[in-house]
Amino acid sequence: MRILFTGGSGKAGKHCIDYLLTQGHKILNLDQVDLNHPEVLTRFADITDAGQVYDVMSSYAHYDELEAGQGVPKFDAVVHFAAIPRLLFKSDNECYRVNTVGTYNIIDAAIKLGVKKVIFASSETTYGICFADGEVKPNYLPIDEEHPTIPEDSYAMSKVVNEVTARSFHQRSGIDIYGLRINNVIEPHEYAENFPAYFADPKLRLRNIFSYIDARDLGQMVQKCLETNGLGYEVFNVSNDDHSVNCASEELIETYYKGVPIKGNGIPQSFYTNAKAKRLLGYQSAHSWRDYVSP
Ligand SMILES: NC(=O)c1ccc[n+]([C@@H]2O[C@H](COP(=O)([O-])OP(=O)(O)OC[C@H]3O[C@@H](n4cnc5c(N)ncnc54)[C@H](O)[C@@H]3O)[C@@H](O)[C@H]2O)c1
Repeated sequence: MRILFTGGSGKAGKHCIDYLLTQGHKILNLDQVDLNHPEVLTRFADITDAGQVYDVMSSYAHYDELEAGQGVPKFDAVVHFAAIPRLLFKSDNECYRVNTVGTYNIIDAAIKLGVKKVIFASSETTYGICFADGEVKPNYLPIDEEHPTIPEDSYAMSKVVNEVTARSFHQRSGIDIYGLRINNVIEPHEYAENFPAYFADPKLRLRNIFSYIDARDLGQMVQKCLETNGLGYEVFNVSNDDHSVNCASEELIETYYKGVPIKGNGIPQSFYTNAKAKRLLGYQSAHSWRDYVSP
């Protein structure tokens, strides 16, 4: 497929682009900083500027596309990751503005320019736990996509708004728009760097509900979304199958989640379930921390 990827120079995007290239896609990156990739061009643009978004979405993906002499081809899909990716970075209102206006512009342009598939980065923070003031416990475990999304902070608020925006765009256009409620992204080198501290003090992972997503498995998740058609508007939790700490679920429940109701049958393997992605997309994570670091 011919894909416009926004935010591809960032932490998550660069691994997803590497994965998508292995699947044979042609990719143009829209970002404010260069991806520095031999196969992928970066168009420097601001997602909050609708004119720039429309321009890049009507762009050649690389110089070789000039050769055919038949004008600019259409993108088959847009993968939208560009954002202010957390709180305590830009001002709260700037984070909200960039993320909401940017996402509106991207989906609006995609639909008006005839793109048939949009995949966008939402976040685990929509569940209101990650960036809460003080500890907020899940309503139940494991957290699935039906768990309420009532966060307190501007970053997570922007992601909830983006989900509403995306659903409404789907309502009018009928195109497939899939939102990814991505858990904490872990790059390959971070297993050795960060996980020993998580093993020593599991509480460090409490705000991520002890979960994580390998950056390459996130790439696979995007690929599964590209391959799967006809679901309409859907959101998916994106995570690995295991906890990011070396503790059994029973132990974590006893220490951190006593009294939190369990949904479904038995003690869950992870508290941030990816069962919907497995069921509807055939996603299956391939990289556990256990393959890279020993406790
Ligand atoms: N990293 C995580 O753990 C995590 C977890 C959940 C969701 N997410 C979401 O995944 C996406 C990618 O996150 P990341 O960690 O790679 O963040 P990142 O900051 O590393 O990458 C984001 C990219 O967006 C670009 N960008 C920012 N503002 C822009 C603008 N106005 N116009 C064009 N480009 C702009 C940045 O230059 C950057 O390259 C974000 O939407 C983030 O909210 C990330």
